[in-house]
Amino acid sequence: MGRISKVVLIKAACRARNRAVAPYSRFKVGAALLTAHGEIVTGANVESVSYGLTCCAERVALFKALTEGKTGFEAIAVVARTRGGPTPCGACRQLLAEFAPRAVVWIADSRQPGKVTELTVAGLLPSAFLKVGKNSG
Ligand code: THU
Repeated sequence: MGRISKVVLIKAACRARNRAVAPYSRFKVGAALLTAHGEIVTGANVESVSYGLTCCAERVALFKALTEGKTGFEAIAVVARTRGGPTPCGACRQLLAEFAPRAVVWIADSRQPGKVTELTVAGLLPSAFLKVGKNSG
């Protein structure tokens, strides 16, 4: 891994968490993606009054990064005020498997940013659906 450390990425996720828009669940989540060029792209969860439209911090970070032309993600840090840190939901696992398949996933309780658990995208979603079959109609 390049110049940017786990500590720096977790700190970026903690800062991003402060921008969460979570008036319904009050569960604020922050995420920070690290690109192969050492750039960091952050996100936080955004909730809607139509609850199902909520977007997780991981997907906000991923969508920001992708639409800024960034690819080749090496790591993603995700933090929230929950014991052991938040594990990405199924929808985020799918998108991470598609767009950040080799990324390591660092999760931490935002109250204990020094205590980081390391996961992998491949481990979070084995046998991911990644290709639409040809001639499938
Ligand atoms: N949430 C995330 O942003 N990331 C996760 O990994 C878990 C859940 C958000 C979605 C919703 O705004 C709130 O946390 C409660 O589920």
